[in-house]
Amino acid sequence: MISVKSEKEMTAMRISNRIVAELLQALEGMVTPGINTLELDRFADDFIRTQGAVPAFKGYTVPGLPPYPAAICASVNSCIVHGIPSDHIILREGDIIGIDVGVYKDGFYGDSARTYRVGKVSAAAEKLLQTTRQALEKGIKAAREDARVGDISHAIGSFITSKGYYVADNLTGHGIGRQLHEEPMIPNIGFSGKGPRLKRGMTIAIEPMVNIGTNRVVERGWEFFVADDSLSAHFEHTVLITGDKAEILSSC
Ligand code: MF3
Ligand code: CO
Repeated sequence: MISVKSEKEMTAMRISNRIVAELLQALEGMVTPGINTLELDRFADDFIRTQGAVPAFKGYTVPGLPPYPAAICASVNSCIVHGIPSDHIILREGDIIGIDVGVYKDGFYGDSARTYRVGKVSAAAEKLLQTTRQALEKGIKAAREDARVGDISHAIGSFITSKGYYVADNLTGHGIGRQLHEEPMIPNIGFSGKGPRLKRGMTIAIEPMVNIGTNRVVERGWEFFVADDSLSAHFEHTVLITGDKAEILSSC
């Protein structure tokens, strides 16, 4: 069953996602050469708790792995998602870093991510970031009442492949609400007219993960990397399906 939120629940979703959005905004100024990703995590953890919320990723469990240890995922260059913050990972000019934030407050989750430039980046990195952000926009445009999940997947995947990039294998968006991950899965590749139908009041996290060199991924514990070490970017928004165009909950 895909959960449909009441007006009250929508308000709670707006609050959780607003905290996520404000944190991602605050991190923008901190992503500079010389900072390590554990410092970014400490800032994020404090920020979230100061808002009376809880970092949603910390302690999150999946079978076969230790609980996720941090408030954010910090995924540098060829790391696609779920990069674990570390004081050994020091950002350098020209890097790109995907930061993914999850927040839990008053029973509901917020989830959003973006990929930042560290100083000035290569033209290739710049183009990857633009394209991944645009892919998310295409997905959000397709997320309308009575559309199907496959319409979102097709909008994202066809755009990415038309630009000569690759959709990272086996990594998807998801429903979100009282759980961080709910039905339905939102793949980044698929067929229009297929999959579950969207109804107003559903909340979903749309999150294209785009690689330059190959769709193949390598898992090392929590962390996912591009198999050929090429660059990868990730943008994610939590959106509310309405009668009109989707409301982006994780923007400020
Ligand atoms: N936005 C990511 C996702 O939906 C972040 C999850 S990190 C985890 O998968 F630690 F919570 F798994
Ligand atoms: Co997510």
